[in-house]
Amino acid sequence: MSTTIAAPPLAVGSAQSDASGIVTVPGVPSHVAIIMDGNGRWAKSRGLPRIAGHREGSRAVRRTVEAAIGYGVSWLTIYAFSSENWRRPAGEIHDLTGLLRRYLRSEIAELKQSGVRLRFIGDRTRFDADIQKDLAVAERDTVANSRLNLTIALSYGSRDEIAAAARAAIAAVNAGSLKADDLGEEAFAGFLATAGMPDPDLVIRTSGEQRLSNFLLWQAAYAELVFLDVLWPDFEDCHFSAALQEFSRRERRFGARKD
Ligand code: FPP
Repeated sequence: MSTTIAAPPLAVGSAQSDASGIVTVPGVPSHVAIIMDGNGRWAKSRGLPRIAGHREGSRAVRRTVEAAIGYGVSWLTIYAFSSENWRRPAGEIHDLTGLLRRYLRSEIAELKQSGVRLRFIGDRTRFDADIQKDLAVAERDTVANSRLNLTIALSYGSRDEIAAAARAAIAAVNAGSLKADDLGEEAFAGFLATAGMPDPDLVIRTSGEQRLSNFLLWQAAYAELVFLDVLWPDFEDCHFSAALQEFSRRERRFGARKD
């Protein structure tokens, strides 16, 4: 597999550039998912309030979207707010939702212009009505784009998602539109929030923590996992590049044998 990228800030794998500066990169994953962790520690280490870390984290989101487009990644899914994050102190939730509101209002036009299609997964009904409206507008306004599929997980929890999918599948069986015997892996995936999306090839987690924290548990069954010792606000192109290089070195067998 090889992918052509237009913006070559750093080489990945055995990347080669031609006279026009186009870089061909073997083994770039189609779908990268990121657990953006470490905003709080970034702020604390500087004696700043946690919101400063989240704010810097949203700048890292912007850089990462640009880098993903540059590397030719087609799908980028980021974990911005977990269903468990609602347990944080009210002040931090207020700050995070305020940041989300500002992000939606300030970035959508540019994302649309850059060919990014936005999707949101998670329980959006828990957000204020104006945010819910902005989410719907962002999805609607970018639906025709296909350069990068950016999915933002908000109030998302994978176990919740799987339980909701099970309920929907049972309802379909009860309604007679699905036979229980036909509910295989593929049919079940069609009831998940990620229906129609490819599974992630690579899951990156920053901050040195090494767990999935209820993120894409079904979808990441065969994903390569890369844990980076960088706090999310410090995540730069070189870290993305390092994760892509690590991915390109992995041998993916999907449970089968190569010989
Ligand atoms: C984890 O760091 C990060 C979050 C809970 C929020 C992620 C939010 C952003 C990156 C910014 C907003 C994003 C968008 C799309 C507007 P943590 O607070 O758990 O850090 P810690 O583990 O160091 O305490």
